[in-house]
Amino acid sequence: MQGGELSMENQRPHVVTCGLPYANGPAHIGHLRTYIPADIYVRTLRKLGENPVFICGSDTHGTPIVVNAEQLGITPKELVTRYHRYFDETFRKLGVIFDNYGSTDSEFNHRRTQQIVKELIDRGYVYPKSIELAYCPVCEMFLPDRYVDGKCPYCGSPARGDECDQGCGRHLEPGEILDPVCRVCGTRAESRIQEHYFFRLSAFKDFLLEYLARLEGTSNARNYALGWVKGELKDWCITRNLDWGVKFPGRDDLVVYVWVDAPIGYISSTEQWAEKTGESWERYWKGDARITHFIGSDIIYHHCIFWPAMLKGAGYTLPTAVVASGMVKIDDKTFSKSRGYVVWVDEYLENGFHPDLLRYYLASYTSHTKELNFSWKIFQEKCNNELVAILGNLAYRTLLFAFRNFGEVPEGEIDEGVIEKIGETIGLLDRSIREYEPKRMVDSVMALANFGNGYFQSHKPWELIKEDKGACGVVIRNALQIVKALAVLLEPVMPSKMEELWHYLGMETDIHSVGVKEALVPIEAGVKLKKPRILFEKIEDDAIEKMENLLRGRIEGGEEDIEKEDIEKMPELVSFDEFMQLDIRIGRVVEAEAIKGSRKLLRLLVDIGEEEPRQIVAGIAGIYKPEELLNREIVVLANLKPAKIFGYDSMGMLLAAGEGVLLVPDREVNPGERVR
Ligand code: MSP
Ligand code: ZN
Repeated sequence: MQGGELSMENQRPHVVTCGLPYANGPAHIGHLRTYIPADIYVRTLRKLGENPVFICGSDTHGTPIVVNAEQLGITPKELVTRYHRYFDETFRKLGVIFDNYGSTDSEFNHRRTQQIVKELIDRGYVYPKSIELAYCPVCEMFLPDRYVDGKCPYCGSPARGDECDQGCGRHLEPGEILDPVCRVCGTRAESRIQEHYFFRLSAFKDFLLEYLARLEGTSNARNYALGWVKGELKDWCITRNLDWGVKFPGRDDLVVYVWVDAPIGYISSTEQWAEKTGESWERYWKGDARITHFIGSDIIYHHCIFWPAMLKGAGYTLPTAVVASGMVKIDDKTFSKSRGYVVWVDEYLENGFHPDLLRYYLASYTSHTKELNFSWKIFQEKCNNELVAILGNLAYRTLLFAFRNFGEVPEGEIDEGVIEKIGETIGLLDRSIREYEPKRMVDSVMALANFGNGYFQSHKPWELIKEDKGACGVVIRNALQIVKALAVLLEPVMPSKMEELWHYLGMETDIHSVGVKEALVPIEAGVKLKKPRILFEKIEDDAIEKMENLLRGRIEGGEEDIEKEDIEKMPELVSFDEFMQLDIRIGRVVEAEAIKGSRKLLRLLVDIGEEEPRQIVAGIAGIYKPEELLNREIVVLANLKPAKIFGYDSMGMLLAAGEGVLLVPDREVNPGERVR
């Protein structure tokens, strides 16, 4: 890394995490306000010479996942496995690159969670208590969290078992909800007494007051949490009657509440990373590390109260900073799948929009802690008026002019004013990112692009080239210097677009690993330039109208069952049973002939251990002559539905690789032997 100087602070281990997405549904644009700014933060710190570890993973437990899997007719494990892969892939597509993307269902997390819970028990922070719980007499089960609907005991609004989601927003403890009704069968729930385990949150009040006062990050997180802690802190019930989850130590019938094992996922994902890289996870979670959490403001309570208390209680390092974004909304409405107020990441990508545009928009639209009303129109305006008209324009006109008239970076002194402006931009970038203000960071860099356009315009290189090519070269080298600086400084925001720009500049280095100081290094004269292409295309009105109509249609259409389709679109995994349904066997070719009129097809009779050999038509004539196949052993899928090919019945399929290279057994086996 060639970033800033390594001060003591720079060498202190630093782990940056993002709120773990529930592996329970596709990604929407609201989620990205956690992941994109965090990725920008990490990339920028790296450019400034630090080396944070960037950690995330899937949150795989909790009742919504169990309920959803039940409705889809699959196991929770299947559901979370699919969405885990989906998120992993989606983050990569968006250029959000974690050092480790773990899962709260990993061995690492089961182990770490049980260790921490045991520690809390040993230190007296967890105690058993009998409580009255909602129980469904028809389903014959306790009704944890989302299994129950009812009324909020604080404000009277309709609520779910764990949260007053439509009223005051309070977290509800098991047994608190009024008029409970079973979500599965609609029966009025009874109340039954059962022993559960509680975390002594109330014991951490003084600690939290002191801790929150020095917590870094954004003030919204600190203030919100302080407000709660100054009021009453209730102990938390941390066990649930479920099979799916991390078992509570010593109780096979209970799992820990999802909000216990979810944040522990930050630690276990770091452990997984450490195992991969030979690093020590304890340096991050047991030592004097910086820990920075990026989250949305909906989960401040969990990260600023419950989580630090748990860490303190179990003897782990406390988070240094909590960075909470304002929520992404649509028309001032909270994202809601069922009410249609949602914009999916997939629909964005499938309609051909480049991920970097969305990164730019989300980072630069408004201050990080403010709410952000997503709007396709504003997205379009920002892309067209800023990326196309300012940044793209400067890059393209400079590069094209240089390429056409010089073909390489021309000779010439770099102006002191230009270097000064770049230096000033680096200073602003450094400060803004440490204050968790990606918008200010982007604005500062875009001001440099504006400066560049002014420079180009006022020096009129298109006139100068006719009068004094040498003087024109000086102007162009300076303009190229500004473009180079822009590429370096905007790489954290638009990694793939800036990589492209870097290439046009004739750079051979990896833009993702150069430090900010590279922006000040004079662009080397004589380096061949690549033929540039337009970096940002104007977004037309009809493309935006199409997206708006999609959104409006969804809102007006109200409820729709996209979930089923989604899950069907995901890469399908087969179970062992499904695999075993395939009847794959060894066969011996007993007859082979070319099919007249076809250049590709052969007709074979294959002995697969049955009374009669099977007739199979195979498209392998391009590679094998019939006589080469006689008496050869091959592999056959025997229970494929019969088909008529070129007038012949084909009763199976040969297994082949690539363009028709046959698979054969390694030693001789009896025809009819099963393959598995
Ligand atoms: N699984 C929990 C987090 C556990 S952290 C130990 C969760 N998952 S989530 O899928 O609902 O959200 C993932 C991240 O996206 C969280 O940081 C959350 O705050 C953020 N957001 C989800 N919806 C959002 C908006 N509409 N706007 C801004 N951020 C949002 O919460
Ligand atoms: Zn309420």
